[in-house]
Amino acid sequence: MRIRPYRAEHAEQAFQLRVTAFSGATHVEYDADEIYIPDEHRLVAVDDGEVVGHLGVWPFNQAFHRHAVPMGGVGAVVVADHRRGEGIATRLLEAGLAHMADAGMAISTLYPSTPVPYRRWGWAYAGVRMRRRIATRDLLDVPPAVTHVTLRPYAASDLDAVVAVHDAVTTTEPGGLVCGTRWLQRALQPDPDDPEIAHVAVRDHRVVGLLLLAKTAPSEAHGSYDVDVLRLFGVDRDVERALWRAVAHHHTTAPRTAFVSRPADPLLFDLRHGLEMTDPSTAHFMTRLVDVQAAIGARGWPPGSATVHLDIVDPQHPTNAGRYVLELDDRTAVLTAGGTGRVTIDIAVLSSLYTGFLTATDAARDGRLPGATTADVIALTDAFAGPTPFLRDFF
Ligand SMILES: CC(C)(COP(=O)(O)OP(=O)(O)OC[C@H]1O[C@@H](n2cnc3c(N)ncnc32)[C@H](O)[C@@H]1OP(=O)(O)O)[C@@H](O)C(=O)NCCC(=O)NCCS
Repeated sequence: MRIRPYRAEHAEQAFQLRVTAFSGATHVEYDADEIYIPDEHRLVAVDDGEVVGHLGVWPFNQAFHRHAVPMGGVGAVVVADHRRGEGIATRLLEAGLAHMADAGMAISTLYPSTPVPYRRWGWAYAGVRMRRRIATRDLLDVPPAVTHVTLRPYAASDLDAVVAVHDAVTTTEPGGLVCGTRWLQRALQPDPDDPEIAHVAVRDHRVVGLLLLAKTAPSEAHGSYDVDVLRLFGVDRDVERALWRAVAHHHTTAPRTAFVSRPADPLLFDLRHGLEMTDPSTAHFMTRLVDVQAAIGARGWPPGSATVHLDIVDPQHPTNAGRYVLELDDRTAVLTAGGTGRVTIDIAVLSSLYTGFLTATDAARDGRLPGATTADVIALTDAFAGPTPFLRDFF
């Protein structure tokens, strides 16, 4: 069995492996036109001509303090049913990590169906994708937009404008996915098996927002359908309010609405009756620093200055391991090899601190920062502090 770069000859088998593993179907019609992870960022495990494993890496960016950091979004990690438990996923992860390092992806993020194999390779819980539910009629409390915003159906020619609005919004979010064109093109392409309704918001003849929703089977009696808001974003809150009011107008036929939310969702402040706090499909994502120096250099930082001596432990990717000095000064930081290595820090702990999900205070209380003085803990806590990182997307 060998891990190889994905080639056209693997396409059909890799497609069956991936789609059947995640859909529960036994066979799915091969779709040669699928917009998917670029071939050069996919790996397959091949044994005697048979594709028995697959791993893909979306070339994304993820924003921290308004700076987009090159991020490999690992997805479609799958091993053939009859070959599980042999260590194939482990070998794919090892090769995937090397690939991301070569491709200049400073960090990697993924959603684990089980954290076990990823934790072993240095990924750590690092943020949340939150979904919430609401009584659709409660959305009538959202104040009407005060500017003139209209909605019209999305057309393929809107893609570039939608991507520009999306990425401008997510660059300001903690952990925001700055995804680029291909990912949104995939999300917005019509799919007859999975009908979704896409509208753009327009103001002054410019595309200023997007609403993508699906109508799903009603979860409770008395409704014709439920609304699932898959994407809702606009250049400002006024545009988003116009989009939410469009959702509200489904209330006569759809009593319930589920939506991709944010931890400090603006609806919490707009609505009289509040929200159901979480939907069961809320999930955590995991992140791993692939290149510690590039990752530290690429993200944004708060004001202030600090110096902390680290000894990074990373047996799975030893180029990261060793002593470094973290120096923060005036919204930039550098990680320079050397120093005393006073604070021992595992790559998984550093990865979770990096996104702002774990605080150094909690890590130290847990015994995960051996050697750290009180001053080190405060410096690290303040350097990495920020609102809870979240992603709107699932990949
Ligand atoms: C998850 C999956 C990719 C693992 O592949 P695999 O080749 O069987 O994994 P490995 O043999 O390399 O196991 C790696 C480690 O993870 C553990 N592990 C693997 N699958 C696990 C599971 N479902 N639950 C808990 N632990 C699991 C193994 O015990 C092993 O740990 P160890 O080294 O401590 O023994 C495979 O089960 C699969 O394809 N599942 C369906 C698709 C899926 O869920 N993909 C993951 C998307 S994030």
